[in-house]
Amino acid sequence: MKKILVAPSILSADFRSLEREVKAAEDAGADMIHCDVMDGHFVPNLTFGPFVVEAVKKCVSIPLDVHLMISNPGKYIGNFCDAGADILSFHAEAVAEEAERRTLLESIRARGVRSGIAVNPDIPVDLFIGVLDAVDMAVIMSVYAGFGGQKFIPDVLEKVRAIRQAADKRGPDIDIQVDGGVNGETAALCAAAGANVLVAGSYVFCSDNYADRISAVRGGGQ
Ligand code: DX5
Ligand code: ZN
Repeated sequence: MKKILVAPSILSADFRSLEREVKAAEDAGADMIHCDVMDGHFVPNLTFGPFVVEAVKKCVSIPLDVHLMISNPGKYIGNFCDAGADILSFHAEAVAEEAERRTLLESIRARGVRSGIAVNPDIPVDLFIGVLDAVDMAVIMSVYAGFGGQKFIPDVLEKVRAIRQAADKRGPDIDIQVDGGVNGETAALCAAAGANVLVAGSYVFCSDNYADRISAVRGGGQ
């Protein structure tokens, strides 16, 4: 079993003190910082763009994991790479053709950034199985993209197992991230299904002990 990496999502952080929040998460043992970008079009919520990613980049030394929940992601990939993303994920269902998904994944890698592709709970992984060789991280959403603090949807674990099997068979050493509703209990289910990168927003940032919550998520894999 791969080591579990924990990615706190700043969606639930206190934006009055974003620098203090991300530094506290880093000090508490976070492996990366998850930045949720929403455009009010692909999802019914708006958050922030590359300027905030660039600011967060200056605050921490751990990698930034940027999750684009936007329509037409290809238009902005360059901006987020320039802003300091270390991993950049877009939604497979936001891009109509498989050939275009591949082009976007390759353009992310060409900029020296790890490529990620995400799917909402109702979207089959078939949308990216064909381009798995161009994927560094598969993101299985365990809530519908758009808001923090939602309830984990256990049915998606089947997709985690399918991707882990496909990856093992084809050889690519990809990371599998689960995003949404992750806490100490659901983390264990994700890890058992083969996920190794776990996003936790409200569970970490809406607590008064980030270190305890981060180790509870990591503990899911032990
Ligand atoms: C949902 C976001 C998630 C979310 C996770 O649209 O992509 O990253 O912030 O938050 P929690 O952990 O509170 O479900
Ligand atoms: Zn996310």
